[in-house]
Amino acid sequence: MIGVGTTPVTVRAAAKVNLHLGVGAPREDGFHPLTTVYQAVGLCDDVTAHPADDLTLTLTTTDWIDAGAVPVDGDNLVHRAAVLLGRHHGRELTGRVEVEKAIPVAGGLAGGSADGAAALVALDRLHDLRTTDDALLAIAAELGSDVPFALVGGTALGTGRGELVEPVSDVGTWWWVIVPSRQGLSTPEVYRHFDRLRPDAPETPPGADVLLGALRTGQPVSLARALHNDLQEPAVDLRPELGLLIDRGESEGALRGIVSGSGPTVVFLCESADHARDLAGALMRTGQEVVLVANGAVAGAHLVPSHV
Ligand code: C5P
Repeated sequence: MIGVGTTPVTVRAAAKVNLHLGVGAPREDGFHPLTTVYQAVGLCDDVTAHPADDLTLTLTTTDWIDAGAVPVDGDNLVHRAAVLLGRHHGRELTGRVEVEKAIPVAGGLAGGSADGAAALVALDRLHDLRTTDDALLAIAAELGSDVPFALVGGTALGTGRGELVEPVSDVGTWWWVIVPSRQGLSTPEVYRHFDRLRPDAPETPPGADVLLGALRTGQPVSLARALHNDLQEPAVDLRPELGLLIDRGESEGALRGIVSGSGPTVVFLCESADHARDLAGALMRTGQEVVLVANGAVAGAHLVPSHV
């Protein structure tokens, strides 16, 4: 088929945590202005685009992820990525797209956004479209507020509704223990609850200077002190068990626990790899079913050798 590669293309994209998530009062379009600092962490989904005559999507997940919670129809970000990228090039894109999910669904880790970003890169390469970086970022922003960051990766400042990203200096290697929940939390619902709890939220979201300064020290203790998430209060109010989980992790020795993004995943910052493994073991002994260890910052959506 003209213009379609013959070999599959695999692209890996990482989960994110928000080291700082400052939220302002809702804008006229309903979105909230953000000042956020994203960090990509080593918990990744792989998206493989195979040549095909039409556009289809298949999903495989690790057993503790609820595959049923992922839309596999036109609402899926992979599907929308194909449509928007095709529209940009004035054509319909085809491909059999396989998503291998390791990032929890509706977890506050931008797993869907990672898949959308990976699909853009995979389909661009499969069809040899040579889309410019600026065009990819613009399409990513149309897909969702977190999708541009999933392309860029590393550690980055996000403004606007989160879609305007700019890499920031990050000299450390940061170790995280990640505790997903079995049941996801709806991002719009958490934002709506923020509005109820914070009718006085400022127009300009709280800035990230303290966090950016802490990042530059490279010291986990400094970063732990500076972590900030305005969506934590509404997320914990909707799911009080998240507050208990944070307390448990901190009493087991975490430097600090916070809700990731809009939750319900809770992430704990640790001193080192060994410390993270010890904390993960301790949390599992308290009965926590799924406990992951990852470090950051890692790369944004990137090609990996095809699976054999
Ligand atoms: O941009 P995205 O599709 O990821 O956003 C999902 C939902 O989260 C939005 O429809 C909106 O309700 C909420 N949101 C928001 N302000 C943001 C980002 C997301 O209110 N900055």
